[in-house]
Amino acid sequence: MKKALTLGIETSCDETSVSLVNEGRVLSNVVSSSVHLHKKYGGVVPEIASRFHVEYILEVLSRALEGAGKGLGDIGLVAVTNGPGLVGALLTGISLAKSLSYSLDLPLIGVNHVFAHLYSAFLNDEKPRFPFVGLAISGGHTALLYCEDVDRYKLLGQTQDDAVGEAYDKVAKILGLGYPGGPVIEKMAARSKNRNNRLFPKSFMGENSLDFSFSGVKTAVLYYVRGKGQGSRVQGRVKRKMAKDEISDVCYSFQEAVLDMVVEKAFQAAEMKGVKDIVLGGGVTANSRLREKFYDMARFYHNRSVHFPDFQYCLDNAAMVAALGRRLYAKGYRSDLFLSAKPNLEVS
Ligand code: KG4
Ligand code: ZN
Repeated sequence: MKKALTLGIETSCDETSVSLVNEGRVLSNVVSSSVHLHKKYGGVVPEIASRFHVEYILEVLSRALEGAGKGLGDIGLVAVTNGPGLVGALLTGISLAKSLSYSLDLPLIGVNHVFAHLYSAFLNDEKPRFPFVGLAISGGHTALLYCEDVDRYKLLGQTQDDAVGEAYDKVAKILGLGYPGGPVIEKMAARSKNRNNRLFPKSFMGENSLDFSFSGVKTAVLYYVRGKGQGSRVQGRVKRKMAKDEISDVCYSFQEAVLDMVVEKAFQAAEMKGVKDIVLGGGVTANSRLREKFYDMARFYHNRSVHFPDFQYCLDNAAMVAALGRRLYAKGYRSDLFLSAKPNLEVS
């Protein structure tokens, strides 16, 4: 009997992750993040991320095997993210995957990172059903897809400028709140006591467009904040002029504008395609206010159901890579030792 155990490897950005998944059940999912090293730069530094992967990947692999109580001999398939992502970072995971595949004589499969995010909700007990509208929202991607099957995706809309997570990160930088921006903005926004005063408008991309734009609201925050003198540097130190309450109000208004755009487009896409399920994936899905808005809207449209990944699978992780890899393998997909840092299964 062929071994059902899949080893997943993820190194597309700043998380080094290895996971063992057996028939849809996650036995281990070890994630080591270099986020602390990027903090002072206000964003991911590709060279630092790449070096971190090289340094930690074998330790992460050992811990994943140990956590699952398995050895290399138990593995039946190696799945690895091969894009999109930072090329230098991706190559570490791909090299490890190829080495294991070659030395242990195991089949290898390259997995698209964006589709893997959308597949994270398939790790839930209640699985989404194809076809569905998929919304990938992370630091690098914002895309609405019509997903007909595990290997058939059509692009419905995407951001014309910043990704949602990127907008969070940039606004946090403007406000001097540090990196990554998503969690801290969510926390500050929840403290706002001034929720009726919407400070920033939503971008309008045209009635039937499913594209997004977040740079307008980000720039509106910049000018608002500059008007208050916040974030200006005096002798190298950030000078704060806005009170904490005021910063919370800015975070709240920014977050409402951005999330409303995302929710509206996702439901509009489901309506246009006549599908029941909306599936979300990517780092921004860790946001509780986003979830609240989607569930509220789903209650309004009775015939829609919304699927979020479990919180532990929102950010980059190898479990989603292993799970999708196994599903593609079952469909007959294979990679070979020429696998490069380029995503396969491009959207049409
Ligand atoms: O999926 P991910 O780990 O990496 C990419 O594939 O890009 O997503 C990271 C992004 C960052 O931009 C981060 O600010 C955002 O996800 N993020 C959040 C939250 N947690 C992480 N955005 C909004 N709210 C959150 N709670
Ligand atoms: Zn990601």
